[in-house]
Amino acid sequence: MTSSSPSPVHTIEDYSPCLWVTPKVHLRFELDPHLTVVRAEYEVSFLGDTLSPLFLNGENLEFLSLRLNGTVVDPSEFEITPSGITIFNPPSREFQLTIENRICPSENTSLEGLYQSGSMLCTQNEPEGFRKIVYSIDRPDNMMRFFVTLAGDPKYFPVMLSNGNLIKEFGLSDGKKEVIWEDPFPKPTYLFALVAGDLVETNDHFTTKSGRRVELKIFVEKGNEEKVSFAFDSLKKAMKWDEDTFGLEYDLDLFMIVAVEDFNMGAMENKGLNLFNAKLVLADKKSATDETFESILAVIGHEYFHNWTGNRVTLRNWFNLTLKEGLTVFRDQWFTEDMTDPSVKRIKDILFLKEHQFPEDQGPMAHPIVPKSYTEMNNFYTVTVYEKGAEVIRLVSEILGRETFKKGLELYLNHYDGMGVTFEEFVSSMEEAYGKPILYLRNWYHRSGTPMIDIKKHFDPKEKEWVFTIQDTKPDPYPLIFVNSYAAFDAKGNLIAEGKRIQEGAVDEIRLKTKDGNLSEPIVSFFRGLSSPVLFDAPMTKEEMRILAEQEPDGVSRFFSFQNLIFLWINESIRKGTSSDTLSDILETLRFSFQKNWDKTYFSFYLLFPSLTQISEHLQFYDFPKLETLRKFAITEISKTFTKEFQILYEENRKTIPVQTKEEIGKRRLKNAALYYLLYDPSRNFERLAVTQQREAKHMSEEIAPLRYLIELDSKEKDSAVTHFYDRWKEDSLVLDVWFAAQVATGRNRANDVITLEQHKKFNKKNPNKVRSLYFSFARNPLSFHDVTGSGYKLIADRIKELNGLNPQIAAGLTKLFSSASKQEGELPKIAKRELEEIQNLPNLSKDLGEVVEKIIKSL
Ligand code: ARG
Ligand code: ZN
Repeated sequence: MTSSSPSPVHTIEDYSPCLWVTPKVHLRFELDPHLTVVRAEYEVSFLGDTLSPLFLNGENLEFLSLRLNGTVVDPSEFEITPSGITIFNPPSREFQLTIENRICPSENTSLEGLYQSGSMLCTQNEPEGFRKIVYSIDRPDNMMRFFVTLAGDPKYFPVMLSNGNLIKEFGLSDGKKEVIWEDPFPKPTYLFALVAGDLVETNDHFTTKSGRRVELKIFVEKGNEEKVSFAFDSLKKAMKWDEDTFGLEYDLDLFMIVAVEDFNMGAMENKGLNLFNAKLVLADKKSATDETFESILAVIGHEYFHNWTGNRVTLRNWFNLTLKEGLTVFRDQWFTEDMTDPSVKRIKDILFLKEHQFPEDQGPMAHPIVPKSYTEMNNFYTVTVYEKGAEVIRLVSEILGRETFKKGLELYLNHYDGMGVTFEEFVSSMEEAYGKPILYLRNWYHRSGTPMIDIKKHFDPKEKEWVFTIQDTKPDPYPLIFVNSYAAFDAKGNLIAEGKRIQEGAVDEIRLKTKDGNLSEPIVSFFRGLSSPVLFDAPMTKEEMRILAEQEPDGVSRFFSFQNLIFLWINESIRKGTSSDTLSDILETLRFSFQKNWDKTYFSFYLLFPSLTQISEHLQFYDFPKLETLRKFAITEISKTFTKEFQILYEENRKTIPVQTKEEIGKRRLKNAALYYLLYDPSRNFERLAVTQQREAKHMSEEIAPLRYLIELDSKEKDSAVTHFYDRWKEDSLVLDVWFAAQVATGRNRANDVITLEQHKKFNKKNPNKVRSLYFSFARNPLSFHDVTGSGYKLIADRIKELNGLNPQIAAGLTKLFSSASKQEGELPKIAKRELEEIQNLPNLSKDLGEVVEKIIKSL
C-alpha cells in the first residue's frame, strides 16, 4: 500500500452486523514451507433480507479455484482484488462454497497468517491473519465449527496440530501423513491455529473439579524438553485457581501449548492450542531470571483464562478488544497476586502503568480503551487497551466488591456463552449483579487520557471538620466514576479514619471530624493501592509525606509515598541544585526502613531508586543528562551513608538456593539491591564483589544483575563481564536476548554499541525477540535514544525503514517509541519529524507504520 492510496479507516459508527456468515468449515492443508495449498469448504448462510454480494477477505493469496455447491464458477461471476474476492450473485441464502488457494509460509516474514519459524510451520491469526491463509469472512462475529485436515511429509512434520480434539491420524499411499482435528466449540477465525513440525512432546495432566482428566501437552523444539516444568506447574495452578475463584472449569480433554522462537507478541490463546513466544514458556533456574519465571506464570495464566473470557464469550468487533484483554489482564493480575505477594504485585503493576500507559495516554497515540477508529488493528494491542482496560475492570471490582464481581462474571458468562459481545453486555451483567446501574462507568470506555485529580483541603469551623475536595479537572464530556480508598493519620502516624468513597462525577468531598475539637490536621493517603487509574495531586508537606512513607500500613501506598519524597527532592534540585535538605529526609526514611522487618521482596522494591524514565514521566521534565546527574548524586549519597547496612544486607542474603520460593526470590532481590548501592560507593571497592557474584551465580537473577550494573556504571570490569557472560551462554538464544539488551539499555552513547552488536553472528533481524532486545531496549534508554545530536533517532529510524518491509507490526511498535520526541528539548523534535517524514515517504509503506507515523508527526 502506498501513501497515495490511503488504507481505509474503520470507525465504530460504521460497524454493522455480519450478514453473510459461515457457521461450518472444512479446511484442508497440503503443508509445504514453500507452497502450501489450502482448501476451505464453507457452509454459507445469509442473515439479511435481500441477498447482497458476498465478500471474502483474502490477502497475499494465490487464487486457484472457486466452486458453489460443487460447480466451478465462471470468472465473470466474481472479482479478485488485493483485499479479497467478491461473488456478485450468490445462488441462494444457503449454499456450499469451496475455495482453494496457495501460500508461501517460508516467505512470510510478517509472522502473521501461516509462517515458518525454524523448522516448524505455525500460525498467528489475531486479529486479521486468517485472511492471509485462506479466503474467509475474517471477522470475530462470524463464528464457525472447524473441521481440519492436515496433510504433510512426516519426515518434516511428524507433529501436526490444530484446535480441539484429534480425531484420526493415518498414512497416505504417497508416504504423506494425514491428521484430522475437530473443535466442538464454534469460534471466530482469529482463534484458529495450526502447527506442524519436528517437535518434542512433553506431557502432564490435570484433573478438573468435576473429576475429568485433561491431558496437558507442551511442544518444544529438540533440546528444550527440560525447560517446561515451570510452565506445566503454572498451567495447573491457573486451572485450579480459575475453578476456585470463579468456578470455571476447562472444557476440552486436551490443552496444548507450543513454544515458538519467532513470535511477534507474548502469546496467543487459540482454542485448545495456545502458541507462546518461547521466552514465556522455557525456563530453568540457570537461564531464567525471577522476573522471567513470574512472567511465565502470569502469561500462562492469561492465555488459559482467555478460554472463558475471550473464547467461550468472544468479541463482536475489534473496537471491543479490551472486553477480553482488560478483563483477562485483570484476571491474570489477581491470579499472580494470589500466587505471590499482593502488595508487591500491585506495586509492579502500578509502576508499569505509570511508566508505559500514562505516557501513552498523554501522547500522540492516546485512545480510549474502546478506540473510536483504527486503520490497522494490530496497532491497538496497546498498554491502554490491556493495562488501563484492566484498571477499569479493577475499578468495577472495587465498586462491587470482589464477591459481587464474581457473581457478575458468572452472569456474563452464562448469558453470553458462545456469542460475540461488546463491553456493554459486560457492564450490564455487572449492573445486574450489583442490583443497580453504575453511573458513568461506560464513560471510562470512551474517554482517553489519564484523569487528573486535584485535591484541596480546608477547615470547616462550624462542623469542626477538615474537608478535602476531590475534583476531576476535565470531566467534560465524559464524567467518570471513581473509587477513592483513603486513610487518615495523625501527626504521629496513628490511623484515625479509613474509608472507600465512590465518587460519581466531577467533585466529591471527604470530611474528617477532628477528635474532641482538636484541630490537628489529618494526613490523608488517597487512592490507596491506586484504587482508580488517575494522577492525583494532594496537598502535602514533606513531613507528611515522610509519615506516610514510613507509617502507612498499606504497603503499596507506603511505597509510592516514599517515591514521592524522592521525586520532591529531584524537583527541588532541578531548580535549586542538590543542596535541598529533602535528601536528608530520604536518608532518614531509609534509615527507618532498615530497622523494619519488611518482606524481603517488598523491601527490595522500596530500596529501588526510580529509573530515569520514571522520574522524567513523573516530573514531566526531560533533560536526561541533568536527571542522570541528580540520580547518580542521590544514589551515591545513599551508598555512602549506608555502606555498612548494605554490606550486612548483602552478607545476610548472600547464600541463596536456586529455587522459585518467596524466600529465595526475596533474598536474591535484596542482595542485588545492596550490590547496586555498594557499586556506587566512590571508592569503587565493591566491583570485585559484582564480578565474583556473576561468576559464582547459581541462578540467572544472580548472574545478570552484576552484569547490568557494571554496564550502567561503565566499570573497568565491564568488558570482561560481558565476554564472560557470552562465553557461558552463546548457545542459548533466549539468554543472549538478555545479553544483547543489557548492553544498550543503560548508559550514554550506546548507538555505536547497537551498530556493533547488530553485526554479531547471533543477531537476527527476522527474530522479533532479537529486535526487541537490541533496538527496543536502546530506544527505551532515554540517555542514548534522546541524545542531543539526534544520533539515536537517526539510528532507529533507519532500522524502522528496514523492518517496514520485513515485519510491519514490529516496525510500527518501534516507531511508537518516537511518541516522546515532542517533549524533548532543543532540536530533537525537529530531527524526529524529519526522520519520520522520510519513513512516511517510503514507497512501500505498510499500513501499520503509516498509521503510527502520521499520528506522531502531527505531535511534532
Ligand atoms: N490475544 C493475545 C493475548 O493478549 C495477543 C494477541 C496480540 N496480537 C497482536 N496482533 N498484537 O493474549
Ligand atoms: Zn490476552
